[in-house]
Amino acid sequence: MTDLQAILDGIYTELKPRIGEGRVADYIPDLAKVDPNQFGLTVTTVDGKIYSVGDSAVPFSIQSISKVFMLTLALGKVGEQLWKRVGREPSGSAFNSIVQLEEESGIPRNPFINAGAIAVTDVVISGHAPREAIGELLRFVRYLSDDDGVTIDGRVAKSETHTGFRNFALANFMKAYGNLEHPVEHVLGVYFHQCALSMTCEQLAKAGLFLAARGSNPVAGLSVVSPKRARRINALMLTCGHYDGSGDFAYHVGLPGKSGVGGGIFAVAPGIASMAVWSPGLNKVGNSQLGAVALEMLAARTGWSVF
Ligand code: DON
Repeated sequence: MTDLQAILDGIYTELKPRIGEGRVADYIPDLAKVDPNQFGLTVTTVDGKIYSVGDSAVPFSIQSISKVFMLTLALGKVGEQLWKRVGREPSGSAFNSIVQLEEESGIPRNPFINAGAIAVTDVVISGHAPREAIGELLRFVRYLSDDDGVTIDGRVAKSETHTGFRNFALANFMKAYGNLEHPVEHVLGVYFHQCALSMTCEQLAKAGLFLAARGSNPVAGLSVVSPKRARRINALMLTCGHYDGSGDFAYHVGLPGKSGVGGGIFAVAPGIASMAVWSPGLNKVGNSQLGAVALEMLAARTGWSVF
């Protein structure tokens, strides 16, 4: 029997001298204030056990990891119809790139690049007021993590609203192509708040456990999505979850995963466990530098790679 706690302790001890590596995201002013000298890691297994090291109980801005929860909600609302609005291919471009949108008629390559996530958010709003869509997401994530302590950091949302010019450009561009139903300000209002979800590694690993457990939350014993849908969300995370770093993450870690510029990475070992790592320093493509190293060590030591 693998001693997971011993594996996590070993990874933490080895990485301790490197904590602080990478560069904290600074294009969202409130994220630039985060102390880079932090590292947390949590693994939750499908039988409901939780293993943690480091700053795993410190809330951080999950940013793009929220796109996984919004995608789940959007698929629940419109099913496969979603793919008329968003593609399923890796983009090979930065998460905030606009280049493909013009050649591809305002249809973003996948639901995880910013343009794709903004279209997904538009689907989740589906005729409701922005506030209701934000409430729906918050309730969903609290339910999944079985923790009402999950919050949205209003300062981070505001900070991004004031500086999110690229996202406004992406949303306006899609609106011009008829690929946004609601007003740009409404869609981005929801999008900035979803990105500002503040969660700990422990909350995040628990919230995503259904993706490791064939779509059901094994602790609560409740079905969240079908096994087929869980498999497909995992496939998208593997191919697109780290943007133009997705190939590299698959090569080194070999698990479906989703990163965020807050320095978090959520990953799934299908049938075995979900995990969340957080270390604010990012690599060149905007993904947690030490987070990816930690997951590579974890996958190697547990044999959890899907390959
Ligand atoms: O829209 C943005 O730029 C941010 N709120 C989220 C980007 C992000 O997390 C990219 N991930 N690595």
